[in-house]
Amino acid sequence: MKILITGATGLVGSEIVNQCHQLGYSVNYLSRDKNNLKNQPNYQGFHWDISKKEIDSACVKDVNAIIHLAGAPISERWTKSYKQTILDSRIESAKLLYQLLEDTPNQVEHFISASAIGIYPSSLMNFYTEDYEHTSSSFLGEVVEAWEHAANQFEALNISVSKIRTGLVLDKNEGALPAIAKPVMFGLGAPLGTGKQWQSWIHVKDLASIYMYVLNNELEGVYNGVAPTPESNKDLTEWVAKVLEKPFFMPKVPKFILKLFLGEMHIIVIESQRVSSQKIEDEGFNFEFYKLPAALIDIYK
Ligand SMILES: NC(=O)c1ccc[n+]([C@@H]2O[C@H](COP(=O)([O-])OP(=O)(O)OC[C@H]3O[C@@H](n4cnc5c(N)ncnc54)[C@H](OP(=O)(O)O)[C@@H]3O)[C@@H](O)[C@H]2O)c1
Repeated sequence: MKILITGATGLVGSEIVNQCHQLGYSVNYLSRDKNNLKNQPNYQGFHWDISKKEIDSACVKDVNAIIHLAGAPISERWTKSYKQTILDSRIESAKLLYQLLEDTPNQVEHFISASAIGIYPSSLMNFYTEDYEHTSSSFLGEVVEAWEHAANQFEALNISVSKIRTGLVLDKNEGALPAIAKPVMFGLGAPLGTGKQWQSWIHVKDLASIYMYVLNNELEGVYNGVAPTPESNKDLTEWVAKVLEKPFFMPKVPKFILKLFLGEMHIIVIESQRVSSQKIEDEGFNFEFYKLPAALIDIYK
């Protein structure tokens, strides 16, 4: 089996590459950075430039499935032009892949796209399953809707499409957890806003395993990429403090302060999405990290 991965150099991509190699799958990957291109028998890099609509067509040779993870980080300040970068890096990149498959003879049968739980409207009460019909009116809701629409287009090429609505991915060195842990390390960990907002987290190893499960079992459609036990922001931060053996007594950081420092993107830490993992579990997937303390202990100890 040969898989083409976009965003293979990132947090989720690197773990998926590891798991592909453990299963004996070869990986081709696309990167914007020519210095990032490796040329190993089971890990071969190809260059693309999304804004110039340039892509090395050799990337798709003998490829059975594509995993599309590329996307500019949402943790930069959301200026008008950066919002466009967030959108284009996900959607124009998907269009470039579509064009490539349309123009190049290939044997791709499955397109698996990253997506995000930011599609679900913020709510303290709802427990979201994949069939929930309304989309958040926030910028993130708009991004995810366009991102999933771009993925769905591949069905016109007779390719199966899957979308993994990803929650807060936990890893020691990358993503949100180091940012959460940093003040905690100094004894300054505090709930954000009311601290009641739900955070649907997932250990990076389990998320990569979901991608592999969807690939190996040819599952189509939307799957939430979250662990079975979401936590409130307060409880999540408190667990980080417990596992790091640090005190947790600071007052909540009010929403207006977060808005002042983060601008519109403060919704990333304030919005509440309690998201269900039942659908992928019903397909037979077993989580390695079911509960947050076990995930944090694996990450930090
Ligand atoms: N981590 C999370 O908590 C989380 C939550 C929800 C959804 N997701 C989504 O899951 C996907 C993978 O997440 P991740 O955490 O692995 O992301 P990541 O570590 O930021 O890596 C994303 C990859 O996308 C590529 N990229 C970055 N900026 C780009 C741009 N402007 N245009 C095109 N490509 C660009 C980079 O590859 P090159 O430098 O090699 O080109 C990078 O390795 C992303 O789409 C992300 O939005 C992640």
